Amino acid sequence: MISIIEQLKQRFTQALKIAFEQDFTEIEGLVVPATNPKFGDYQSNVALSLAKPLKQSPRAIAEQLVKALEISDLCEPPQIAGPGFINFTLKRSYLENQISILQKDPRLGVEKAAPPQKIVIDFSSPNIAKEMHVGHLRSTILGDCLARILEFRGHEVLRLNHVGDWGTQFGMLIAYLREVYPDALTTANALDLGDLVSFYKKAKIRFDEDETFKEEARQEVVKLQAGANDSGHAWQLLCEQSRREFQGIYDILDIKLVERGESFYNPMLSGILTQLDEQGLLTEDQGAKCVFLEGFTNKEGEPLPLIVQKSDGGYNYATTDLAALKYRVEQDQATRIIYVTDAGQANHFAQVFQVAKKAGILPENVEVVHVAFGIVKGEDGKKLKTRSGETIKLKDLIDEAIAHARRDLETRLSSDERTESQEFINHVAQGVGISAIKYADLSQNRVSDYIFSYDKMLALQGNTAPYMLYAYARVQSISREGNIDFNQLDEGASVLLTEEAELVLSKCLLQLTEVIQDVERDLLPNRLCEYLYELSKKFNKFYETCPVLKSEDPIKTSRLILCDLTAKTLKLGLFLLGISVLERM
Ligand code: ARG
Repeated sequence: MISIIEQLKQRFTQALKIAFEQDFTEIEGLVVPATNPKFGDYQSNVALSLAKPLKQSPRAIAEQLVKALEISDLCEPPQIAGPGFINFTLKRSYLENQISILQKDPRLGVEKAAPPQKIVIDFSSPNIAKEMHVGHLRSTILGDCLARILEFRGHEVLRLNHVGDWGTQFGMLIAYLREVYPDALTTANALDLGDLVSFYKKAKIRFDEDETFKEEARQEVVKLQAGANDSGHAWQLLCEQSRREFQGIYDILDIKLVERGESFYNPMLSGILTQLDEQGLLTEDQGAKCVFLEGFTNKEGEPLPLIVQKSDGGYNYATTDLAALKYRVEQDQATRIIYVTDAGQANHFAQVFQVAKKAGILPENVEVVHVAFGIVKGEDGKKLKTRSGETIKLKDLIDEAIAHARRDLETRLSSDERTESQEFINHVAQGVGISAIKYADLSQNRVSDYIFSYDKMLALQGNTAPYMLYAYARVQSISREGNIDFNQLDEGASVLLTEEAELVLSKCLLQLTEVIQDVERDLLPNRLCEYLYELSKKFNKFYETCPVLKSEDPIKTSRLILCDLTAKTLKLGLFLLGISVLERM
């Protein structure tokens, strides 16, 4: 169903046409949620912004508009307030009717986008043989959530893992592999290299301290790029080892991704240079090939170039991104391409996008977005570290959240004198721990840095995963307590909204589609978290003030419908965040 705000906007546009015989598309403040619920549910500030172009007082405009508006099926008669704000209060009968429709709709009012788009989301993207760090975790959680929302809207989403599996560091790694496992390069067997990160560190030490090794590493890069068999095999070994480790994390977090690493674009890089050259965009600067940019300068105010081929002939991160963009536009036919990385890469993407536009790689009809996020910090406000000062392994971070959740649960069980099976405890601790990590990340405005705190993310009160999971489980307990099967509720039963708390909850339930569309546009999942938090609070208020099981029909069924819809909305909303609900906790 179309969102309420969208319907009001349509009626408004119609009224503007009737009253002023003009089309005013895209005016600011046409209809917005009311700033203060005291004045109603929605408001329009349009009379104020039209005062100038129409050369009339805002109040006079508001009066003409209200006269021309046909919304008596949706709202009580609109009220004009102050200098010319128009306030709307939704009608009870309208809300009752909408809730009945919602009850029968498995998509809870969220329509599929028509026509659907082809969308690429480039996320997670860790680097081979290097640590998959909290920044990658953030990208993984955000990217997965955006993918889920866009998929639910019916778009065709390609979830791409742009793994860093190419580049000069492989020369060093392969050279080191030859040194320590000379046989590994010629035997077909997979090899367990143990901790790849410490392998990387050891290789780096050799590289930094030994000139001959450095030269060997350089030769390895050349051999690898020339396609030498044993180098290719060594490269494969390294990638597989990393891949296994990454997959472990994706499995725990339930993340689906298609790996298409940097190496995939390797054969296309020289073509990119040719294309840039043909467009006359290439300049040589100290042996390197670059494209000069508009709007980017160094500290001295001199124009900054984007380097696309280094003086030693090697290509780089930017060249690969240009090739990837071209491939995604031409082969994948994407019309929206989303990159989820830390804000530190904002310049990189702005530069790549600019060059791609100039070179004709990025056509007008394709939207590219850098979904940037801030840094994850420890509770001391510094970069997240272990107590001994090392970088935290993601696996340990996740395990720790689960352990925390388990301790919290056990304390709660013993204070309630509840006994539960070990299986139950494991299941709930795992579910709550992982949900808490995801939710903590998603509920922040992604642009800001965020402080990683187990205590905060696992708190039972506030905008946290446990709070949301509880609200859901609570509704399920109503159905258990009253021996009611929500699936058996009479679809023809009438919805009666007699109490204020019921009206407030209903309006909130009807906003899901609006919120999903906001996130689809702005790519800010925290909007959905805020919505679910509001919904849980409104449900709790309703549950406190309106008896459900103790009331009589038809009120009882009507209230059960509200309970059921709340549970379904929470379940769907959490699913879109990548979180599975628990029936009991
Ligand atoms: N591997 C990069 C990193 O770890 C992220 C890649 C993001 N995607 C891209 N197309 N550049 O920072």
